[in-house]
Amino acid sequence: MQDTVLPVTPDWAERALIDRAAYDDMYAQSIADPEGFWRDVAKRIDWIKPFTKVKDVSWDPDDFRIRWYEDGTLNVSVNCIDRHLARHSHHVAIYWEGDDPRESRTITYQELHDEVCRFANVLTMQGVKKGDRVTIYLPMIPEAAYAMLACARIGAVHSVVFAGFSPDSLANRIQDCGSEIVITADQGLRGGKTVPLKLNTDLALTQCPNVRRVLVVKRTGAKVPMQDGRDIDYFEAAAKVPPVCQPVEVGAEDPLFILYTSGSTGKPKGVLHTTGGYLTFVAYTHEIVFDYRPGDIYWCTADVGWVTGHSYIVYGPLANAATTLMFEGVPNYPSVSRFWEVIDKYKVNIFYTAPTAIRALMRDGEEPVKKTSRASLRLLGSVGEPINPEAWMWYWRVVGDERCPVIDTWWQTETGGILISPLPGATDLKPGSATKPLFGVRPELVDADGKTLEGAASGNLVLLDSWPGQMRTVYGDHARFINTYFSTYRGKYFTGDGCRRDEDGYYWITGRVDDVINVSGHRLGTAEIESALVENLKVAEAAVVAYPHDIKGQAVYAYVTLKAGQPATPALADELKAFVAQHLSPIAKPDVILFTPSLPKTRSGKIMRRILRKIAEGETSNLGDTSTLADPAVVGDLIERAKHIG
Ligand code: PRX
Repeated sequence: MQDTVLPVTPDWAERALIDRAAYDDMYAQSIADPEGFWRDVAKRIDWIKPFTKVKDVSWDPDDFRIRWYEDGTLNVSVNCIDRHLARHSHHVAIYWEGDDPRESRTITYQELHDEVCRFANVLTMQGVKKGDRVTIYLPMIPEAAYAMLACARIGAVHSVVFAGFSPDSLANRIQDCGSEIVITADQGLRGGKTVPLKLNTDLALTQCPNVRRVLVVKRTGAKVPMQDGRDIDYFEAAAKVPPVCQPVEVGAEDPLFILYTSGSTGKPKGVLHTTGGYLTFVAYTHEIVFDYRPGDIYWCTADVGWVTGHSYIVYGPLANAATTLMFEGVPNYPSVSRFWEVIDKYKVNIFYTAPTAIRALMRDGEEPVKKTSRASLRLLGSVGEPINPEAWMWYWRVVGDERCPVIDTWWQTETGGILISPLPGATDLKPGSATKPLFGVRPELVDADGKTLEGAASGNLVLLDSWPGQMRTVYGDHARFINTYFSTYRGKYFTGDGCRRDEDGYYWITGRVDDVINVSGHRLGTAEIESALVENLKVAEAAVVAYPHDIKGQAVYAYVTLKAGQPATPALADELKAFVAQHLSPIAKPDVILFTPSLPKTRSGKIMRRILRKIAEGETSNLGDTSTLADPAVVGDLIERAKHIG
C-alpha cells in the first residue's frame, strides 16, 4: 500500500493557492534567498515598528543565536483581533461546541476583542506586567483563548498546562517558570465527566508559595473552596472592568509563551517561543497548508494545552481572521458520530485531527460516519504521530468520501508550526508520508555518526536552517537547549525523529529515536514515567519503554523492581498504574507492568533499553549483542516473565 500515489486532482490544481509549479519555484527561491522569502511573508503581519533585519541565525554551539525580525515591534492580539474589526467585526471568530451537544457559543471578532480586553484588564489589575509569566490551567472553553490573547495583549508570557495533567505536574511547571498567577476553572467537563481543576490547583499550590493570585473561571458552577486573599472569581472581576485595553508594544524577539514538553532526559523542558517570527510562521502555514480561504470554517480538534492548539486553534487561524471551532468534548461522546455531527452542524470545511482518533473511530466501522453528510468538508489534516497507511486510507475514503486530500503535517512543539507537509494543490499524496518540506525547510538524513545520507535512505532527521517559528530557548536553561538540539550533530537541529526518504524525495517519519514515547499523539519522556514510579515507596527501580499499540500508536511498558519484601501481585501492578496516572497524568499510565528481580545492565550499570524494547515488542529471536551485560541470565528470565504477562 505504501506505493499508492494519489495525484493532485484537477479541481485542486485549479483552485489551490499554491500549485505544483508555484511550489517548485517558491521552494527554490526560499532556499536560495531565505531572507528575501521571509521578508515578503512577514508583510502579512501588522508591525508597529517595521523590522529592518530579517534573520540573524547561527547554530554553531560556540556562537549561537536565533533571531528573526529582531528590530520590529508588534502586538499579537492586535494582529489576531483589532486589525480585523474594520471589516470583520461581526464575523465569527470562535464557534465553541460544548461537551454536551446542547451547549454552544458563537463569538464574533468584536466580542473576542471585548472579552480579551476585559481579561487583559483583570490581569493588569492583579499586577501582571510585561514579561511576567502566567500559568493557564483551563479546559477547552473560550476563556482559554481569551486568557492567552490577553497575556499577549499586555506582553505577559503564558504557560498553558494541559488540563489532563496532575497537581504535581502543574506544580512543577508553575515553579519552573516562576509564575505568580494561575488561571483555572472550577471544573472541566469531558465525555460527560467532570475534571476537578480547582481542586488540582489547590493541591499543586501547596508546593508553590510564590503564587499570589488564582483566577477561577466558572465552567460547571460546582461549589469549590476559594481561598481568601488569593482566589478570585474571574467573571465577577471581569464585570467590573471595561472592554477596551491599550495593547502593549512588544519586540519581535520578546517571549510570547512557554510550553512544557517532554524530552528524553530529566524534567519537561519549557519550550520558549517569541513573538514576531512565531506569529508570521503560524499564520502563513495555516493559510498555505490548509489552503484556507476567507469564510472557511476551520476545525482543529487538538487541546489548547498542546502546541497544536496554540498554533492552529488560536494564533494561526485568528491572525488570518478565520472562524476557528473549539471543541470541549471527546470523539466518542455522546456517540462515536460526534466528530461528524459537529462537522455537519457548523458546515466545517477544513478538519484537522490526530491519527489516534481516526484509529479509534475505525473500530466502530463506517456506519457512524456514513450516516452523516460531511458534504461541507474540503480538506482533512493529520498531526501528532505517524499515520499508518490503513488509517490514512480510511480517513480519505470513509470520512472524506475520496474527495478531500489528507494532509499529514509533521512538526513539533519546538518547531512552532508545520515543517513537512503536502500542499493540497501541489503535492501528490502517498498514504503514510508527510511528503515534502515546506518553504525554507531543509531536511537532511544522517546516520548515527552524523554522516549525511543521500537519495533514498533511512536515518535520523535533522534540519539545516532556521525558520521564523523555531523555539528560541529552553526557559531558564539555554545550555540545555543548545545541548539537546544542536550538539548531537554539531550545528544542525536534531529533531529526535527517525525518517525514511524514498526515491521521489518524500519523507516518511518513522517515530522517535530517543527515549520519548508518543502515546495517542501525546509526548512523554520515559525518564518522567520512571521517576513517577520510583516515587512510590514500594518501587526500587523502574525502566520504561514503548511498544506498538493498535490505537494509541505506542503504549507504555514498565519493568519494575520492587523493594525487598514487596509481593509482586496484580493488585500492586494496578496500584502502580493508578499512582502514575495520579502523579504524572492519566496519559502516562503504563499499559503493562512487568515485575522483575533485576534489569539487564551493562557492567558499568547502564540499563540496556534496546533489549527491554525488543522484549516488550515480543521480538526476542534476535536480541543482538548481549555480551556486555553484567548478568546475561537476566534476559532469559525476563523473556519468560514477559510470556506470562502478555
Ligand atoms: O515524533 C514526531 C511526532 O510528534 C513529535 C512532536 O510531538 P509534539 O512536540 O508533542 O508535537 C505534536 C504536534 C505537532 C515529533 O517529534 N509527530 C508529530 N507529527 C507527526 C509526527 N510523526 C509523524 N508524522 C507526523 N505528522
